[in-house]
Amino acid sequence: MNIQLPDMPKPADAATEHQLTFQDGTTRTVYDTGVERPYPDGKLIVSRTDLNGVLTHVNDAFVAISGYSQEELLGSPQHILRHPDMPKEAYADLWATVKAGKKWHGYVKNLCKDGSHYWVYATVVPNIRRGETVGYTSVRRKPSRTKVNEAIATYANLKGA
Ligand SMILES: Cc1cc2nc3c(=O)[nH]c(=O)nc-3n(C[C@H](O)[C@H](O)[C@H](O)COP(=O)(O)O)c2cc1C
Repeated sequence: MNIQLPDMPKPADAATEHQLTFQDGTTRTVYDTGVERPYPDGKLIVSRTDLNGVLTHVNDAFVAISGYSQEELLGSPQHILRHPDMPKEAYADLWATVKAGKKWHGYVKNLCKDGSHYWVYATVVPNIRRGETVGYTSVRRKPSRTKVNEAIATYANLKGA
């Protein structure tokens, strides 16, 4: 079952408009103000999803930085945070890795409800119960600025290719 997200509210600040098409075929209009939110010091940003990437758990730090309420997040696809600068290859690699039962690490730029964004270093793992994968968990940490700058260049190349 594909879940259609509501469009983002148009920010009062200047923003570029983008039409995103997701793997499940749904689309969404999003806005990017280019404003970066600092990663919250000393916090982990955590979410869990079901097998389809639908959010089943979000911690307080996840809710706070996203700008969405917990009610808006739970039951929504994790792609509610997808930023237009992120190449689809990054997520294809994430999904192939965790579906193979392995741990994925990577740098991710996420889009907040108000059009701002934040960078994370994410570790995504399958949740395994009695030998079966029942969902996935992502634990995000503060990324180093050097690695973020490398990721910006890598992702821009992938988007341009
Ligand atoms: C546990 C888990 C955490 C994820 N975290 C994020 C995230 O923080 N931001 C994001 O854009 N995609 C995240 N993804 C990937 C999304 O499910 C999705 O693949 C991505 O947003 C691109 O959208 P699409 O695959 O629907 O086209 C996560 C996936 C899993 C399984």
